[in-house]
Amino acid sequence: MPVRTSQKSQLFSESVIREMTRLFLDRESQPGVAPGVNLAQGFPDFAAPASMKDAACRAIEADINQYAITWGSKTLRNAISAKTEHFAGFRPDPEREITVACGATESMMAAVLAVVDPGDEVVVFEPFYENYGPDAILSGAVPRHVTLYEPDWHFDQAELAAAFNDKTQAIIINTPNNPTGKVFNREEMEFIAGLCQKFDAFCITDEIYEHMVYSGEHIHMATLPGMYERTITISGLSKTYSATGWRIGWLIAPYEISNAIRKVHDFLTVGAAAPLQEGAAFALTYPDEYYTNLSNLYRVKRDYMMELLREAGFHAYEPQGAYYIMTDASDLFKKFDQSDDVSFARFMIDRIGLATVPGSSFYRDKEPGRTKIRFCFCKKPETLERARDLLLRLGN
Ligand SMILES: Cc1ncc(COP(=O)(O)O)c(C=O)c1O
Repeated sequence: MPVRTSQKSQLFSESVIREMTRLFLDRESQPGVAPGVNLAQGFPDFAAPASMKDAACRAIEADINQYAITWGSKTLRNAISAKTEHFAGFRPDPEREITVACGATESMMAAVLAVVDPGDEVVVFEPFYENYGPDAILSGAVPRHVTLYEPDWHFDQAELAAAFNDKTQAIIINTPNNPTGKVFNREEMEFIAGLCQKFDAFCITDEIYEHMVYSGEHIHMATLPGMYERTITISGLSKTYSATGWRIGWLIAPYEISNAIRKVHDFLTVGAAAPLQEGAAFALTYPDEYYTNLSNLYRVKRDYMMELLREAGFHAYEPQGAYYIMTDASDLFKKFDQSDDVSFARFMIDRIGLATVPGSSFYRDKEPGRTKIRFCFCKKPETLERARDLLLRLGN
């Protein structure tokens, strides 16, 4: 019997990142195969902070095991508010302006559903984090893409301005950026802010990598003049506290917007895991040193990986933030007789057991991504060393 699935669900395909991970795991499960390294999906392979885990365990023992308040436990909302004041310089009202959700992923979906109607347009930079397209499609919106150009991933101001019109309801920005590592500078942020105000559009900002900045400065869109009232700031636990599996994220937005977000969120997921919210609240009180150490740790990994990739023949674009490196690998495609990014990514899994992400998965019009491969470096030193051994074996 033919199965009729929704048109919306047919408008996007399975995450390429997860597909690469699956191919990688298939290979790993074959008998006699030397273990490989997965640098496709961005999750750390080292432990989350012990005191955060202890706090969550204590919460379970204390029987915090039922639904939390749908928009987030009070302790976590208070902690988000205090941390935001400390790092971003504004203090959102924990009672009215903060919503806790199941990761930045649900946060983005809830934000888009809360402010966008079918037929509205949403401006998205490309290369993009692959969820933004489906988020726009699921809400019935039309994504308008604006290119970030390598090597520094700048945008053309005229192109961005041309993407805005009377139908523009929102722009999604992600700084520090996945996959490029770009940290949007003040001039760029102000230019975006100007367009949002001119066209009365929302700015939904994904700041999940806010504490991983190696050069430049992380600017919170909500702090620019005239922007608080139209900005939805999203962040979460996954990256800063190395706990992608806890599924905790949050949204900060003025009261009326938060109200709409909270309704959507309630019917999407009811709420994030209650005891883990307590663990998260504990982690959010860590001293500044925690964040400095995190950033320093990742800077060392970035430098290691940059050197290795260059040595292995990739043209690597140095990231200013986040934990990915975009590369142009076209010379290597030629060398190994591979036609494009997808065939080369599969070839690397088959030949040396190294999983990466084909660049085209970050572009709507696949062409500019066809020469590119993305690596993540949020791994233990020994994992990166193993990746080095594999990569240097590529030619042999
Ligand atoms: C830009 C960006 N936003 C959101 C997410 C997902 O965050 P979460 O685990 O909080 O859903 C990721 C994960 O890779 C990401 O790169």
